[in-house]
Amino acid sequence: MKVVTTRAELRAARAGLDGSVGFVPTMGYLHDGHLALVAAARERCSAVVASIFVNPTQFGPTEDLAAYPRDLDRDLARLEAAGVDLVWTPAVEDVYPPGFATYVDVEGLTGVLEGASRPGHFRGVATVVTILLSLVRPQMMFVGRKDLQQSVVLRRLAADLGLADEVVVCPTVREPDGLALSSRNAYLDPEHRRAALVVSTALRAARAAYRDGERDAVTLRRIMHDVLAAEPRAEVDYVSLADPDTLVELDGEVTRAAASLAVRVGVPRLIDNSLLHDPDPELDRPMSTA
Ligand code: PAF
Repeated sequence: MKVVTTRAELRAARAGLDGSVGFVPTMGYLHDGHLALVAAARERCSAVVASIFVNPTQFGPTEDLAAYPRDLDRDLARLEAAGVDLVWTPAVEDVYPPGFATYVDVEGLTGVLEGASRPGHFRGVATVVTILLSLVRPQMMFVGRKDLQQSVVLRRLAADLGLADEVVVCPTVREPDGLALSSRNAYLDPEHRRAALVVSTALRAARAAYRDGERDAVTLRRIMHDVLAAEPRAEVDYVSLADPDTLVELDGEVTRAAASLAVRVGVPRLIDNSLLHDPDPELDRPMSTA
C-alpha cells in the first residue's frame, strides 16, 4: 500500500493504477463501517484509493474540529489489511493551497436536516469532495448510508460535475445492540453509550409501525418522538420523515419514506436513519443486549 501526502505525489501514484478505481473518502478514526466501504470497492473495482483528511471547512465554529478523534497509524494498518492500494493523507495546505477561494454549493438538498442544523457543513463537504474527486479521478466513489443526506448530496454533485460514474451507497454497519458505528461514538461514556441506544430503538419502532401498516407521516414521526422522549439523556435536534430522493418532509399518507434522527447524547450529536420502505436487515434483526 502506497501512502502519499502532496498533490504531486498523489498524481504520480494515481497514474500508476490500472483499470477501474474505487475511491473511499474518510476523515479517519476508521471503524468497520469504513472497512465495509473498502470491501465493496475491492469487489467492484480493480484498484482502491482511500483518503484520510479531517476537513476543516465542514465543521462549524463551535463544532469538534480540534477534538475530532485521530489515529493515523492504526488507520493505515487497517487500510493495508483491508487491501487498499493507495492512501492520500494530505495536510490542510495540500487540499486548500494558499489563497484558496473556490467553494462548491449543491442547491436544493442542503438547506434541510443536517444543512439546517449545521450551516455551511455541506458547502465544506461538497468543496472537499470535489477536490478529492478531481485529483483521484475514480470511476466509483463509496459512501455510507448512515450519512443519508450526504449520500444524496454527493450523488447530485458527482452527476452534475461529471466527477465519478457512480456513487455507491453502502448499508450502515451497527454494533450488536443496534448503535450505528460512528467515529464520534468515541465521545460516549458508558452511561451515555447505554442511552445512545434510544436512537436506533426509535428507528426500529418506526419500522415496526410501517411494517404493521401505519402510513401516516405525523403518526410515524410521533412514534419516534415518543421513544426518544422516554430517554432523559437524549436531546432531540430533529426527527424527520422525508422523501428519500428530494429530502422534502412528508405529509399525510407515505409510501417511500426516509426516517432520520439527530440527537445529542451527552457530548456527541448522533445521526441515524432508515428507509422504511426498504429491507434494513441490520435494524430488523433481534438485537443483542450483551
Ligand atoms: O463522511 C465523511 O467522513 C466526510 O464528510 C467526507 C465525505 C470524507 C468529506 O470530508
